[in-house]
Amino acid sequence: MEKEKTIMDYDTVALDDENSALLIIDQTKLPTETEIIALKTAQEIWDAIYLLKVRGAPAIGVAAGYGMYLLAKQIRTDNFEEFYREFVKQKDFLNSSRPTAVNLSWALKRMEQVCLDHKEKPVREIKALLKKESEEIQAEDIRVCKAIGEYGLSLVKPGDGILTHCNAGQLATSKYGTATAPIYLGQERGYGFHVFADETRPLLQGARLTSYELYSSGVDVTLICDNMSAAVMKNGWIDAVFVGCDRVAANGDTANKIGTSVVAAVANYYHIPVYICAPTSTIDMNTLTGDDIRIEQRPAGEVTEMWYKERMAPEGVKVFNPAFDVTDHELIAAIVTEYGIARAPYTQSLKEIMEKKS
Ligand code: MRU
Repeated sequence: MEKEKTIMDYDTVALDDENSALLIIDQTKLPTETEIIALKTAQEIWDAIYLLKVRGAPAIGVAAGYGMYLLAKQIRTDNFEEFYREFVKQKDFLNSSRPTAVNLSWALKRMEQVCLDHKEKPVREIKALLKKESEEIQAEDIRVCKAIGEYGLSLVKPGDGILTHCNAGQLATSKYGTATAPIYLGQERGYGFHVFADETRPLLQGARLTSYELYSSGVDVTLICDNMSAAVMKNGWIDAVFVGCDRVAANGDTANKIGTSVVAAVANYYHIPVYICAPTSTIDMNTLTGDDIRIEQRPAGEVTEMWYKERMAPEGVKVFNPAFDVTDHELIAAIVTEYGIARAPYTQSLKEIMEKKS
C-alpha cells in the first residue's frame, strides 16, 4: 500500500524555474489546509515573507535566494551596470520585508556577491550563476540542519523530555529544522523523546506548525500553552530546551521568537540546559550584543483578534507586540552550530566557530 502523504513530504520552499516562480507552502493556512502558492513578483515575495506565509530564519534565506534569482531573471538588459542597479533595487526591497532574521540579508548579500564577482561576464551568464548560488543556499541548508542535529543529539539521551518554542522545524528550513533536527534524528534512531511544544502566541507557530510536523512524523509530542512551561519543568518532565534563533550576536545573546527568553529564564531556575540551534548563517559577528538587534514590531490585531471568533480585547487598548525577544547569553548552556558546539565565553567560542567556517 502506498504511504499516505504528510506535511513532511512537501517542500517548504522550491524553485519552479520553468514557470519562473517561487513555490512555498502558505504556512498561514496550516494545519487545516496545505496550499502551495507560486510567487512571481517582488511584491508577492515581499508580502509572503512579511505575512509569514514563508517564515523561520533559514527558510526566509532560501526564499530570498530563489526570489532574487527570479527577479534577476526578469531584468531585461545586457549591460552590467544597468542590470546591477536594478538588482540592488530589488534586493533592498526584499531586505525590508523583515528586520530580525539575519538570514534574509545574509542570503541577499550572497546573491549580490555573485554579481560583483562576475561583473566582467555577460549578464545571461551571471543569471545562470545566480541560479546555481540560490540552489546551493538550499542544499547547504539541508546539510547544515543535519549537522546541527548530530551535534544536538550528543547533548541528550534516550527517553529525555525536550521542550521547544515556536517552530524551528522542517517548515522553518528545507529539511530537519534546526531545533527539531536532534529530535528527528533521535526519532530515526529510536531515542523515544517526549517533546513539549509551546503554542507560541500570538501567531501559534508551535501549535499550528511544530506540533503538526512532529505529530505527523510519529514523534511523541504534547502541545502546551506558553504559560505552562514552568509547570512541565517543575514536574521534572523536561531535560533540555532546544530552540532556534533569528540572530545570534557576537557575545552569544540570541534573538528568537517572543517568549523564548521567558522559557530560558524559567529553565535556568530549574537547572535545565537551554540549547540554541544556530546555523552559522544566523550568527552575526557584526552585531556585538543583543541590544544591537533590531526587533520586529507586529500589528496589534495579531494579539487582539487573529485566531479568535471575535475580538478579545477592548477597542483602542494599547498593545505591545514584538515578534522576538533576546535571550541573554548567561541563560544559554550552549549554541549548537554545524561546525560544533559553542559554550561560554561565547565571544571566544563563536569567533572560533566562524574561523573554522572560513
Ligand atoms: O516569526 P517567525 O515564525 O519567522 O519566527 C521564527 C522563529 O523565531 C524561529 O525559531 C527561528 O526563525 C529559527 S527557525 C530555524
